Amino acid sequence: MKRACVIGWPIAQSRSPLIHQFWLRKYGIEGTYTKEPVRPEDLKSFLGSLKERGFVGCNVTVPHKEAAFSIAEIRSSSAIAVGAANTLWLEGDALACTNTDSYGFMANLDQSAPHWRTTPGPIMILGAGGSARAVIHGFLEAGRDDIRVFNRTIERAEETARHFGARVSASSWDTRNDHTAEVSVVVNTTTLGMNGVGDPNIDFSRARKEAVVADIVYVPLETPLLASARRYGLTCVDGLGMLLHQAVPGFETWFGVRPEVTPELYNLIAENIREA
Ligand SMILES: NC(=O)c1ccc[n+]([C@@H]2O[C@H](COP(=O)([O-])OP(=O)(O)OC[C@H]3O[C@@H](n4cnc5c(N)ncnc54)[C@H](OP(=O)(O)O)[C@@H]3O)[C@@H](O)[C@H]2O)c1
Repeated sequence: MKRACVIGWPIAQSRSPLIHQFWLRKYGIEGTYTKEPVRPEDLKSFLGSLKERGFVGCNVTVPHKEAAFSIAEIRSSSAIAVGAANTLWLEGDALACTNTDSYGFMANLDQSAPHWRTTPGPIMILGAGGSARAVIHGFLEAGRDDIRVFNRTIERAEETARHFGARVSASSWDTRNDHTAEVSVVVNTTTLGMNGVGDPNIDFSRARKEAVVADIVYVPLETPLLASARRYGLTCVDGLGMLLHQAVPGFETWFGVRPEVTPELYNLIAENIREA
């Protein structure tokens, strides 16, 4: 029996077990996926003893993503681009890692709003934290060359732009609404809107009708940003799809089956979010 888990501190809030257990049942795989609370000071010893603990791999979440990246011995190009890992596995005795947030975000965007690829124009990224880096990496891989990062702390936006190079620029948070008439995609990677607190306050009144608006916050599913974009008839992409798609590569690596993101799975997790 293969065993995988998600580790974090705290970990009670994680919905990853619901996703992976759904797939284990669906594909009739004898395996387990559990939540393991791991304190920051115990991360190195936990990851160093995955095999002894009987795990084939794990997901890592807050606050371990950067530390897990440093500890892993083999790193994928997406983990290197983001500087953080969320999925780990063993290659022989060596610990390998990747970051599947880029893949998850882009796969969901392609599924929910495929016309974004044929809509030229700048990409607006709100926020410059860990998940912003994953999203930016995805757009760079997709060949986009005008990615504009808006962040409350401008130094962090500038650091992000430096990290990625000439195709990414940094702008002050206060100027974000000067760009809404031009951009083809808007992505909120800040925590604004999470649990109903805050709103990035984007004025969509001058937005292009083909613009796509994505929020990676998924509690609630309909964030203030998406509600506002919907009022102007724009295509909206919620954050739950990213959460589901980012789980696909890990499941395939650990259990040997590439799982599908289906409406049934989406509804199961959406129901859990609504009940929370
Ligand atoms: N859907 C998914 O699968 C998925 C995956 C990963 C993350 N997420 C969600 O994405 C969100 C961000 O995660 P993260 O790991 O990137 O967080 P993070 O590294 O802590 O970054 C947080 C970002 O939010 C900005 N921010 C916070 N409060 C703000 C405010 N009042 N006004 C303007 N900006 C504000 C921060 O700006 P400063 O730099 O100025 O502080 C920073 O850019 C979380 O809600 C997380 O749950 C979703």
